[in-house]
Amino acid sequence: MEKNRKIVIKLGGSLLFSQNEEINVEKLNEFCNIVKKDKNFKKIIIVCGGGRIARKYITVMRKFTKNEAACDIVGIELSRINSRLLISFLGDIAYPIVPTLMDEVALAALTNKIIVMGGLQPGQSTTSVAVEVAEFLNVKDLIILTDVQGIYEKDPKKFPNAKLFKKITPEELSSIIFQETGTQQAAAGEYRIFDAVSFQLIKRSHIRVIIMSGQDLSNFKKFWKGEKEFIGTIIEP
Ligand code: UTP
Repeated sequence: MEKNRKIVIKLGGSLLFSQNEEINVEKLNEFCNIVKKDKNFKKIIIVCGGGRIARKYITVMRKFTKNEAACDIVGIELSRINSRLLISFLGDIAYPIVPTLMDEVALAALTNKIIVMGGLQPGQSTTSVAVEVAEFLNVKDLIILTDVQGIYEKDPKKFPNAKLFKKITPEELSSIIFQETGTQQAAAGEYRIFDAVSFQLIKRSHIRVIIMSGQDLSNFKKFWKGEKEFIGTIIEP
C-alpha cells in the first residue's frame, strides 16, 4: 500500500448507537483502537453521522413543524455532538475542535491531528460532507462504515439473499439508488447510504469510495492493515 496517503472515514450513526439507542462504547473503542494503530495514513478525517438520536429528534420535530431545513439543523448539531464524543475517545491525537465550515477544515488540516466532524449545511447527509471534504483536501479514498456490508442489488434488509457488489461504477450505483429510495432520499434523517448530493459529488470527484460494515469491524481492520482482501463494495469510475 502507498504510504502517507490521506483518508476520509464516514462513521455511520448505526455504529455510534446500539439497537436500544445506547451509545455503543465497545464499538467506538474498537474503532478508535484500529485507527490509533495507523501506519499508512498521513492525514485522517472522520465524519460522524447523526445516528438514531438524530432520527429520534427529527421524528418528534416533524410533529410540530413542516420545516425540513430546521430538522436538518438538528441532525447536524447531533452529528457534531457525536463528533465531540469521538474526540474524547481519541484523546490527544484528535484535533480538539469540531470544524463547522470548510475553512475550518482547511485550518485543522494544517496540523497532524485526526479531524473529527459532523454535518455542514441543511439539504444533505454526512456522507455528502465526507465526499465534500475528500474533494476539498484532495483525498483519494473515502471509507463509509455503515450497517450493511456494502452495496447490494436490492435492500438486504428486505431481501436477505440480495447480491453484494464487489465493485461498481457510479453509473451502476445511480440506478440502484433511485430504484431503492425514490423520493424519500431527500427527507431529513431519511438519507440512505447515499443521498442525491453525495452521489453527484462522487460522480464528478473521481474519489474511490469503499463501503463496508461498521458493525463487524474485522473487514475495516484488514483494510487498515493494507490487506487487499476484505468484504465491501468499491465504487470506482
Ligand atoms: P446522517 O443521516 O448523515 O447521519 O445525518 P447517519 O445517522 O449517520 O446516517 P447513516 O447511519 O449513515 O444512514 C443526520 C441528519 O443530519 C442532517 C440530515 O437531516 C441527516 O439526515 N444533515 C447532516 C444535514 O442536513 N446536513 C449535513 O451536512 C449533514
